[in-house]
Amino acid sequence: MRLETKTMNILITGGAGFIGAALANRLLLDGHTVRVLDDLSAGNPDRLHSDIFFTRGDVRDKPKLWRLLKRVDCVYHLAARVSVPESILYPTEYNETNVGGTVALMEAMRDAGVQRVVFASSAAIYGEQPRSPVAEDFSPHPTSPYGVSKLSAEHYVSTIGRLWGIETVILRIFNTFGPGQPLPPEHPPVIPMMLKQALGGGSIPIYGGGTQVRDFVFIDDVVDSLVAAGSAKGVSRRIINIGSGQGTSVNALAKTIARLTTRELHLLPVPSESGGVSQLVADISLAGELLGYVPRVSLADGLSLMLKHDARFAKMVRV
Ligand SMILES: NC(=O)c1ccc[n+]([C@@H]2O[C@H](COP(=O)([O-])OP(=O)(O)OC[C@H]3O[C@@H](n4cnc5c(N)ncnc54)[C@H](O)[C@@H]3O)[C@@H](O)[C@H]2O)c1
Repeated sequence: MRLETKTMNILITGGAGFIGAALANRLLLDGHTVRVLDDLSAGNPDRLHSDIFFTRGDVRDKPKLWRLLKRVDCVYHLAARVSVPESILYPTEYNETNVGGTVALMEAMRDAGVQRVVFASSAAIYGEQPRSPVAEDFSPHPTSPYGVSKLSAEHYVSTIGRLWGIETVILRIFNTFGPGQPLPPEHPPVIPMMLKQALGGGSIPIYGGGTQVRDFVFIDDVVDSLVAAGSAKGVSRRIINIGSGQGTSVNALAKTIARLTTRELHLLPVPSESGGVSQLVADISLAGELLGYVPRVSLADGLSLMLKHDARFAKMVRV
């Protein structure tokens, strides 16, 4: 079977993004041939090693996909619009890219005879849940168009995969952080935003009292899980949570950041944003069982690595 051979031909959609580029560079190091398709709406090709074949383009562009998918063994589908608050403003765009892009890719994979797809889904599909940690069989209740788009894409991946004999592995990834994490001015993710504000002496907005609990998982652990999902046996049709398995409140995160940066934090309470949920922590036992997944980097260690290796923060630490 092709997936058991040591090296594979791999296509990563969204491979110039935060997670995609880390995955692409890792797969190249592991000896695979790696192609990346990314429209650069949020990605940056400078993140990629020069031996990775980069194509700029939209994941809905079928002729481009047919060309790129020739002799590809495994596709990692990461191309997506990824902001919960932005999705509330522009649900049509989220539907077109995250759902339409997934359907177009699955069709093109069928045409090209690709064996396996690993789809990067999200914890956002769960929404508000009565219990925590959440396991894969909990009923999804997404609270944002982003979550709806990821859930809908999951259904397309599973259904088209089953109908056309494509192996599918869906990873529901929780809040990923690490060096190189984007920090867009509009709707920045909580960790790089807090690090920047703490180091710069600015005030940190704390939504809804800061009691929301999240599962922050380090980028290297997420990459390990994706790599394993590309070649593991007995995982087709499975949906698997990928997180740290640990819950951290936003207030506790702020305290850890204050300790590590040795700066005094100025917290600014603001009313809660819509689309968020109070508690979301992953049950990662299935990932351990099926992928041998064990998260290795704690929140504090991951934050220290960001402060040391992310140039944006490292230079502020020295000031
Ligand atoms: N970062 C997280 O915490 C997290 C959590 C759960 C799931 N995910 C999923 O993981 C994947 C990667 O997320 P990320 O954090 O690296 O985000 P990112 O924005 O850094 O990466 C997404 C990439 O997709 C590209 N892209 C967007 N629309 C495209 C299109 N139409 N055609 C081709 N490329 C397109 C962007 O340019 C970007 O490089 C996404 O599918 C996201 O939903 C991320």
